[in-house]
Amino acid sequence: MTTTVTTSTGRRFDDRVALVTGAGSGIGRAIALRLATEGARVFGHDIAADPLAETVALVEHANGTMRSRVGDISRRDECRALVDDCVAAFGRLDVAGNVAGIARAEHFVDVSEADYRRMMGVNVDGPTFVAQAAIPHLLATGGTLINIASNAGLMGQAYTVVYCMTKGAIVQLTRALAMEYVRSDIRINAIAPAGVLTSLTTGFTIPPDVDGSLMVPYSGYRGMGSPEDIAALFAWMASDEAANMHGSIVSSDRGVTAG
Ligand SMILES: NC(=O)c1ccc[n+]([C@@H]2O[C@H](COP(=O)([O-])OP(=O)(O)OC[C@H]3O[C@@H](n4cnc5c(N)ncnc54)[C@H](O)[C@@H]3O)[C@@H](O)[C@H]2O)c1
Repeated sequence: MTTTVTTSTGRRFDDRVALVTGAGSGIGRAIALRLATEGARVFGHDIAADPLAETVALVEHANGTMRSRVGDISRRDECRALVDDCVAAFGRLDVAGNVAGIARAEHFVDVSEADYRRMMGVNVDGPTFVAQAAIPHLLATGGTLINIASNAGLMGQAYTVVYCMTKGAIVQLTRALAMEYVRSDIRINAIAPAGVLTSLTTGFTIPPDVDGSLMVPYSGYRGMGSPEDIAALFAWMASDEAANMHGSIVSSDRGVTAG
């Protein structure tokens, strides 16, 4: 998938270090590019080696700095190792982005135990373990944690029940962590996109016998967003311009959750 670099609004991340999971594709790649073009040194993580290497090449082509690590985000030891590698490479951590995620559509009663546990592992365990490992470093820099939730964490969706459960967990991870650290300098927020054109959505298969009318409310009326839309919001939320934001779940969904 090709990704264009959105013109940045400045150099809001000079001297800062950003960790981005899911950096090999879609929203994570766009965030890595956006932050790097605004001066951040970026540490990217993904389970897919070649796409991650492509992101590194794109960042370097844009005169940015990026290091990376390949691994499975659902493993706690991997989450600790990727944060350790980031800090070893760049000496600090200012921005941690929990972006990696997977989605499936199926009838709820057909969800296998393996698929259920995989979805929970990638979408809930991973962000939780990354947050555990990253927060001590963010406390040291007065940094920020941003989780990618979804409209699916804010509304019920047919045929993606387990995905909705995982994103609801991300909403509550964000709010509860915001309270636990409310007396510190760190900021913890989430972005809740709806349909964004990435490999997650282009590869999304829907069982043939579903009631399509039940999917209209979360398909929306204005088409799909772009990864760069979400990256622009992420960059603002990670910057000092968003100093007033803590514990917020910010929708970027072209009205999907408005009605
Ligand atoms: N695309 C959308 O419509 C949409 C809408 C709302 C929320 N989101 C969320 O945005 C985030 C990014 O999604 P995207 O659309 O960019 O998808 P994407 O498939 O383009 O990118 C996700 C990345 O996560 C990586 N990944 C998957 N499993 C992993 C694992 N076990 N360990 C490490 N990396 C792993 C993939 O290799 C991929 O590079 C996800 O959390 C997704 O749930 C996406």
